[in-house]
Amino acid sequence: MVSFGLKTVEWKDNSVIMIDQTKLPNELVYVKYTDFMDVASAIKNLVVRGAPAIGVSGAFGLALASLQSKAATREQLLSDLESARKILFETRPTAVNLAWGLDRIIQVAKQGNDVQSIRDSIVKTAQEMAEDDIKINMQMGKNGSVLFDDNDTIMTHCNAGSLATVAYGTALGVIRATKESGKNVKVIATETRPVQQGSRLTAFELKHDGFDVSLIPDTAVGYSMANKLVNKVVVGADRVLKTGHVYNKIGTYQVALMAKQHGIPFYVAAPLSTFDMKSTPQDVVIEQRKGTEVTQIGDRKTAPDGINVINPAFDMTPPELISGIITEAGVAKAPFEQSIPKLFEAKK
Ligand code: MRU
Repeated sequence: MVSFGLKTVEWKDNSVIMIDQTKLPNELVYVKYTDFMDVASAIKNLVVRGAPAIGVSGAFGLALASLQSKAATREQLLSDLESARKILFETRPTAVNLAWGLDRIIQVAKQGNDVQSIRDSIVKTAQEMAEDDIKINMQMGKNGSVLFDDNDTIMTHCNAGSLATVAYGTALGVIRATKESGKNVKVIATETRPVQQGSRLTAFELKHDGFDVSLIPDTAVGYSMANKLVNKVVVGADRVLKTGHVYNKIGTYQVALMAKQHGIPFYVAAPLSTFDMKSTPQDVVIEQRKGTEVTQIGDRKTAPDGINVINPAFDMTPPELISGIITEAGVAKAPFEQSIPKLFEAKK
């Protein structure tokens, strides 16, 4: 049986429908947007989050912008789309999927000859990107499932599930596919402070879909590994460089380091749209988020007034800590500079 999971973002009747992830796990609420500016603030404020989900949401945002534009000529429409692209792009800097989604739509727009044909092709392409995201995740899941065994307990960090994609998930997609292949697996989800994507989203999603999942505080990763409560790790990614450097939710690096210390395989699952084949680690901007995410839990203050806070949203895991990077085109292993280009060749 295919456990499909939640549908995070979709296009319906010229509007974008999303699960409001800020309300989870207490309420499963869907929001509807017809203004691209609302999509931009939804991305900024984590109503929608997760690299592939924001890539597709950016594309849908441009689709809305094309419908909102009062342009009478092709050139005016392209200029309106470029302004909307900038606003959507500036919402979050680390996940490369956002730029990927926006750039793809702009390319399609430039190929159109008139206002109506541009609008039609943008809306069609954005919908195709959403459908492809599900197919890609399912293929990635299949490719990754062979790395996991019956009775494995798999640790994951943050949320790389249905809620981080259109549906199915990347890291959690691999776990879904492993279960669908008949293997019995359990999951340990880290809480993922400060915004708690692990406890609010991963624990919610896996419980919703009938998985055996246990929640741990981030500080219990070492304990769980040392006490053999976990035997493999799989996480998602916001950006993967051609060298195999992986950017993912803050805390991923320490999970990978501890996995290395305990001889536990550490896998990353990411579609090829998450790969940035041009940048070096020096080029990657790590998003810094507001201090109140750290000084409060919900509305409750948990730190003294005026305290200085460092709140990076992502960190970088170096290639030597990674056992394999699972994609829709296969699994890359070290040396990554050789194996990653081969995946792109295989996809052609
Ligand atoms: O800040 P978020 O919630 O957008 O961070 C999400 C992550 O770090 C995910 O692990 C990553 O985007 C992979 S999602 C398939």
